[in-house]
Amino acid sequence: MTLPAVFRRVAYEEVGSTNAEALRLAEAGAPEFTYVTTRRQSAGRGRRGKSWISPEGNLYATIVLRPDRPPAVISQLSFVAALAVGDLLDRLGVAGSIGFKWPNDVLVAGSKISGILLEGGQGHLVAGIGVNIAHFPPDTPYGATSVAAEGGRADLDAATDGLAVAFLERYRAWLEEGFRPVREAWLARAIGLGREIRVTFREGDTDSGVFSALDESGALVLTRGGASRKITAGEIFFSA
Ligand code: BTN
Repeated sequence: MTLPAVFRRVAYEEVGSTNAEALRLAEAGAPEFTYVTTRRQSAGRGRRGKSWISPEGNLYATIVLRPDRPPAVISQLSFVAALAVGDLLDRLGVAGSIGFKWPNDVLVAGSKISGILLEGGQGHLVAGIGVNIAHFPPDTPYGATSVAAEGGRADLDAATDGLAVAFLERYRAWLEEGFRPVREAWLARAIGLGREIRVTFREGDTDSGVFSALDESGALVLTRGGASRKITAGEIFFSA
């Protein structure tokens, strides 16, 4: 598999964060599909201000995007990115079942294998994607796994090109057809739909109820006692 011609790859041995680097390049005018990759990150960024430990052997990549779409729909791209990772894992032949955890984690057999971090700037955004290819952190509060541990083809170069291919397919479909097919594909592998969950918010408060639906914009619908609320940001946990 080769990198599609629209991508301009900027490859590092080591960088602080491919997201930070992609934002810097985008601000300096780098075109859409600038594809920043690195072997190691010294300051990898996770969601909610966490760090993303980034040893050599895993995939760290960020794509510069300039979609001509209103800000209200841009968060849908985290679902687009999750679908692309799912496609990549299918193609690498991981054995366990692939699932999506709202909003944008990708799990294999219930353990996290990939993290996605969208960050925005003026007229551009960057989609940062980490995929555990050779290693996974042993000591996370949630379970983690890797392509190698799941019996997939742990070929970093193939995964780097394959992620770009898969992302381009899913991104173009979103541009052409909107969120509906993205939502359907994501729901087909959603984890926890119809189950009791707890949600924690950035401010530290929590709520619980049944994960009853994903709305037309990508918000999680939490239902309790006949009342529903839509959640656009937060972390979800499944009850035993
Ligand atoms: C998460 O917390 O689940 C999101 C993790 C996102 C990690 C990727 S690795 C490539 C890109 N560069 C970063 O600094 N973060 C993202």
